[in-house]
Amino acid sequence: MDDIIFKENFFSKELMERLNHDLESLSSGSNFVDPAGIWVGQLIANQRRLVRNEVFDTSVKEVIDLILPEFDLGAFIAELSYVKLYLPWDIHTDSNRQQSFTQRPYYNVLIPLHSVDSRTIIFNEASEEFNEFSKFKEQNQKSNNPVSLDIWNKYLDMCWDHDREWLSIKEILPAQDAGQFIAFKRKFFHSSDNFHKRLSGPKRFLQIIVDQA
Ligand SMILES: [Fe+2]
Repeated sequence: MDDIIFKENFFSKELMERLNHDLESLSSGSNFVDPAGIWVGQLIANQRRLVRNEVFDTSVKEVIDLILPEFDLGAFIAELSYVKLYLPWDIHTDSNRQQSFTQRPYYNVLIPLHSVDSRTIIFNEASEEFNEFSKFKEQNQKSNNPVSLDIWNKYLDMCWDHDREWLSIKEILPAQDAGQFIAFKRKFFHSSDNFHKRLSGPKRFLQIIVDQA
């Protein structure tokens, strides 16, 4: 199955309006302050985890029912979160999660909730064992086809400069918009772009971490 799935207008406007409303009606989530990375001490995200009985009979359940048949192998939802991202996550994989049913990482699904001049950048480099890019650098040679300085400075200038030499671009996704269905294999290193330089409010999306059955 494709490493990256990107479908425009996959969800109706009406469903996205209800999804926005349902997620905004939840109690607030927990703040994640960067403990040691590029944003040390700053608020990166507010994440509201959703549990099964909160989803039943809601727009979230409708979204889940629409996306699960898109995966060719059986897919389990390991994690479901409403994310408000204030600062871009640094480069990472989502291979390793605390809450995992099968220990077989499959897809990371992003359901954008609004139109924002921000995109996800996916690299060719991957790890099925760990999330940290620092570990990848310790265990691997520099890339033969590193990210160009132009692209790095345009989208990734918040990252550590030297990371560029170990990374090559797999895909720069289009700017996020409500209605899009975005999924990519959890093993790929990826990052948000430097949207914080263009945006005053947070970037909002539903994130679904999927395990392979
Ligand atoms: Fe991620």
